[in-house]
Amino acid sequence: MTETAIRLIGICGSPRKGGTEYAVRAGLERAATKYGAETDFFSVRRKDIKFCIHCDYCIRKQRGCIHKDDLQELYPRLEAADAWLLGSPVYQGGVSAQLKAVLDRCRAVVARDPKAFRNKVGSALAVGGDRAGGQEPTIQALHDFYLINEFLPVAGGSFGANLGASVWSRDKGAAGVEGDAEGLAALHRTVDGLMRVALMVQAGAGSEATE
Ligand SMILES: Cc1cc2nc3c(=O)[nH]c(=O)nc-3n(C[C@H](O)[C@H](O)[C@H](O)COP(=O)(O)O)c2cc1C
Repeated sequence: MTETAIRLIGICGSPRKGGTEYAVRAGLERAATKYGAETDFFSVRRKDIKFCIHCDYCIRKQRGCIHKDDLQELYPRLEAADAWLLGSPVYQGGVSAQLKAVLDRCRAVVARDPKAFRNKVGSALAVGGDRAGGQEPTIQALHDFYLINEFLPVAGGSFGANLGASVWSRDKGAAGVEGDAEGLAALHRTVDGLMRVALMVQAGAGSEATE
């Protein structure tokens, strides 16, 4: 099978153009320059993203989500990507409400097609104002989303990038992240792991047992 570029989407869960956007874009940049990935970027910033209201329209109709907001243009991009890089600021030790709303609304995709996300590869980064402000629980919550939705979650390996990229902004936004050499090294290792597995999945596509 001819190898085509891995399509990687980065999703930034910060309502600001701050450290999380900087980190997600840096991850995409590495994937593009080192691995030739075709990248896409989405930020929750200034977007109209409604909460899931558990109306079950998506389950009953299997035609996507009832809300006609800014996620409608994101849904096809999420499905087209081979790999995702989710990035969240740490809010109260966890995922930002904005990003959580995006993830909750993915229920509509899986309700229409239970295999929509199967075997996509996913990694995560979290940016906190404190060095140990809850980055790891935030990353784990993003990995839970991946597991529940049949992605293959990938981190960057022990001795530095254990669960993914824990990044420290010192509450200084992009400038803070730019100065976090350890966080950026963890991000690079995480993206390397993500691309390694995405390429393996691509190479093995079609060979998996059905059902
Ligand atoms: C509502 C709110 C809650 C926050 N909670 C935490 C926290 O629990 N731990 C932490 O390290 N930083 C916390 N922060 C700081 C942000 O995580 C930090 O400034 C981060 O860089 C924000 O990402 P951004 O620069 O992409 O906007 C919080 C910020 C806000 C606005």
